[in-house]
Amino acid sequence: MHALKDTVALITGAGRGIGRGIALRFGREGAAVGVFDRNSVEAEAAAAEIRSAGGRAIALHGDVSGACDVRRAVQEISRAFGSPTVLVHNAAILPTGTVEETSEDAWDQVFAINVKGAYLTAREVLPCMRRAGGGSIIFMSSISGVNGFPGMAAYSSTKGALISLARAMAIDYARERIRVNCVSPGTVDSPMLRDFVAAQPDPQKTRQAFDDVQPRGRVGTIEEITGVFVFLASAESSFVTGANYIVDGGMSVRGDQPRM
Ligand SMILES: NC(=O)c1ccc[n+]([C@@H]2O[C@H](COP(=O)([O-])OP(=O)(O)OC[C@H]3O[C@@H](n4cnc5c(N)ncnc54)[C@H](O)[C@@H]3O)[C@@H](O)[C@H]2O)c1
Repeated sequence: MHALKDTVALITGAGRGIGRGIALRFGREGAAVGVFDRNSVEAEAAAAEIRSAGGRAIALHGDVSGACDVRRAVQEISRAFGSPTVLVHNAAILPTGTVEETSEDAWDQVFAINVKGAYLTAREVLPCMRRAGGGSIIFMSSISGVNGFPGMAAYSSTKGALISLARAMAIDYARERIRVNCVSPGTVDSPMLRDFVAAQPDPQKTRQAFDDVQPRGRVGTIEEITGVFVFLASAESSFVTGANYIVDGGMSVRGDQPRM
């Protein structure tokens, strides 16, 4: 019943959206959860929700692109629950634009959060996992890291980088029983998606386009993608490393893209 019993999981960007959904699900599956987010109010609320459902969780406030924040978060979760044996690096931002439309600052910022955040959090939890005799690291990529999407140059590059990083780390740490995988969702109904849609010239048309491009006619829900994270975090996936799980309702198989 409790697939993640005896697991200590650090989840970045877990204050809202998909990360929050993963944190709540991990809590229900028996994991002790560190809810890491730069929004401390939302991190506290998510951790409190896990505790009120009978689970174990602490809020960890910080920015994943800051080495000191990440180090402090790992120290806090270790003190509270013991060495983290699962890391989900889910925090990300989604700037839009082509290469010409992306400023250097915007480029650097999205790489700092989406990619450097993965490096910093992984670097900090690896010694903990080694001490614990193994672990599972899961990077949140995106279908845009695999296929081309219009106006998402910087974001897509970061998501592609995470897939390569997971493959490289999978080889480096396989002998230490530390597995590293990616999940690449298609379109999921989350605050990030709603913010993106709201910023388009015709939000209603954009939202409809996202649903229309789905083979089954509607985008994914947060609850529909958390299961793959439970699988990758648990011993059920002990022979899975360096993989990239595409969870997109079949959108990329059909090869269509939303027309906005
Ligand atoms: N929603 C989708 O359709 C979709 C599709 C593919 C991939 N994804 C990926 O899933 C993940 C979650 O997406 P979401 O839709 O839930 O996004 P969201 O914007 O709703 O939530 C992201 C969370 O990350 C936190 N965060 C952002 N920058 C941070 C930082 N520097 N330090 C700490 N926390 C930070 C935010 O405060 C927020 O709580 C992201 O990696 C995103 O790229 C989302």
